[in-house]
Amino acid sequence: MVTETELYNALKTVKIIDNRKWNGNRMTKRDGATTGIHRKNLAYRNGPCESGVFGMTANPQSSWKPRPSKLTNDYPEVYDVIERYIKERLPDFVFESVTVNHNLRCRKHKDSRNSTLSLITSVGEFTGGELNIQHPETGVKKTFDTHGKWVIYDGSKFEHWNNPIKGDKYSLVFYSRWSSLGKDQKKRILEKLTGGSEKFRLLEPGYLSTILD
Ligand SMILES: [Fe+2]
Repeated sequence: MVTETELYNALKTVKIIDNRKWNGNRMTKRDGATTGIHRKNLAYRNGPCESGVFGMTANPQSSWKPRPSKLTNDYPEVYDVIERYIKERLPDFVFESVTVNHNLRCRKHKDSRNSTLSLITSVGEFTGGELNIQHPETGVKKTFDTHGKWVIYDGSKFEHWNNPIKGDKYSLVFYSRWSSLGKDQKKRILEKLTGGSEKFRLLEPGYLSTILD
């Protein structure tokens, strides 16, 4: 089984674009979830803004057709470690893309991407950086430690943001942009994440956030 340390060491070899320094011109509303502008708005002023995508991505160069991202082509062995890390733990979670954020403390936001469920975990040598998720109707805020743990949530409906990070943190967000999970798949994932208990079912099933120890 790929350990957290092995994943962390693999991620450390990746040169992730600092979106604050990046002056590319591929920013459009259509690709809102992966663009530099989007990421810049996500980060706190002057805070780190390193963010990249593994797996499938689409942009004008690919005529908006999904294809393996640059990071996937540049670091196939790292993507292999990422895939094994999740598949050994949550084989039912089907994903097409993985956003990797390095020490990125997100401000309160919703995701504009068309997927619903995001699965997040984080690795590294850090404290803090917890993920806050706010229920859109009740306003109830839950805070989740994602370090070596998993949280599943609907980033398009629930506003979410991070606490300050101390140390070196990589967070990985797994999601699909071109397909969606079936009801049974979701059920199996939620069962695994909750260990069959209702303990963490504080948000509605389907939008639920929970933790796998
Ligand atoms: Fe997000």
